[in-house]
This record gives sequence, structure tokens and C-alpha cells, in this order.
Amino acid sequence: MDGNGRWAKQHGEERIVGHMNGVRGVREALTGATEIGVRYLTLYAFSTENWNRPQPEVNALMDLLVRTVVNELDELHQNAVRLRAIGDLESLPASCRETLNDAIARTAGNDRITLTLALSYSARWELVQAAQRIGQAVKEGRIDPKDINEQAFEAQLATHGMPDPELLIRTSGEQRISNFLLWQIAYAELWFTPTLWPDFRKDHLFQAVLDYQNRERRFGLISEQVTPS
Ligand code: IPE
Ligand code: MG
Repeated sequence: MDGNGRWAKQHGEERIVGHMNGVRGVREALTGATEIGVRYLTLYAFSTENWNRPQPEVNALMDLLVRTVVNELDELHQNAVRLRAIGDLESLPASCRETLNDAIARTAGNDRITLTLALSYSARWELVQAAQRIGQAVKEGRIDPKDINEQAFEAQLATHGMPDPELLIRTSGEQRISNFLLWQIAYAELWFTPTLWPDFRKDHLFQAVLDYQNRERRFGLISEQVTPS
């Protein structure tokens, strides 16, 4: 979800006003995804690197997160949204973490769509965590190094149990991944739009999905192998 700061600048406002307006983008993406039957939506809300932004912006973002979760919780629940979070949640302020954990617990039984917030998340952090856990398991004799395969590795990721993303959308004209789900997006289709996140609407999502539907996903095979005859 990129471009909140630039949106604010264009409107002659402080950066945080851009973040506040970014909540609309979240609503649009979530309702759009739910309407078309998407089962998993993962939003990159705050990266490990974002902690190094000016402190007032970090604080405002954390406040906004708590307020948004509190304000939207009833509606999320009514719409059978299951909330999850991935990332170094221990590093979040305690109030934030508690609000989030309450919302996660309250929506745990919902199954229409899983909304995962990546918070204090970076893929390199996640991969290092996985390596540490596997190293520990080896040390304790719970796993033999030659049994470390892709499945064993996947089991240690924060996204364990979730399917790999089929489509990755990045807004604001930047064409890079910026440390997001590096393992999981091995075969994801990428879609970029110059639209800034606060201007993101359902129609952008639908456009991305239509584009996705016209792509041929070969997973390393040749066209004839993946196209039913
Ligand atoms: C994305 O918008 C929101 C977060 C990273 C929290 P930015 O804040 O990165 O907006 P730009 O890139 O400065 O426009
Ligand atoms: Mg940015």
C-alpha cells in the first residue's frame, strides 16, 4: 500500500493525513476482494524498515492502526472476515498488540476471507526467523538436515498454512518488491499501478484481476503443458 505520503503532499497536507485517507483504500480493496470471492488478502501495512521513519509519523501510524481496528471490528466480523497479522508483533507498542490480538481472537472463526496485515514485517526478517527455528530443531535432534526441504521451510514461515499469493499489486508507480513475502511470491503475477494508495478503488482491484486472468501461468513448464487441450 504505497503512496500515502505523496498523496498528502499533492493535497497540501501532512503525511499522516495521507495515511488516514489510506484507510479508504483498505476498505475498497477488502470489499472488492470479498465481492469477487478472493479468499486471502494480505496488506503490507508497516515494514521493519518503517520503524526508522521520523518518530511522530511512526506514532501516528500506530495510533491509526489501533483506531482503525477498533472502528472497523464489528463490520469485519459481520462480513465474516478473519483477521490475521504477520511480522515481529512483539515490537509493536503493547496497546497496539493487545487491540490486534483481541480482534484476531474475535474473528478467528470467520472464513469468508482472511485479511492478513503485515506489520513490522519484512521477508528477510521472516526468512531469518525460519532459519533460526530450523537450526534449533537440528540442534535438538528434532530434524535431520537432509530432511530440510521446501515444505519444512514453509512450515516455519509466518504465512504457514496460507496459499502463496497469486497476484501481487503495488500502487504509486514504484516497481519493486521492497522485502515483501520474498519466498511466497516465487510465482506470483505482479501488477503495478501509478495510482496512489488513498485513491485505490475496487475498480483498480478488478482491473488487476482481469489482467491476471489473461496471463498464462506456466510455473516453469511450456504453454502446451499448462493449457488444457
Ligand atoms: C505507504 O505510504 C504507507 C506506509 C508505508 C505506512 P508511504 O508513507 O510510503 O507514502 P510515500 O511513498 O511517501 O508516498
Ligand atoms: Mg512509500
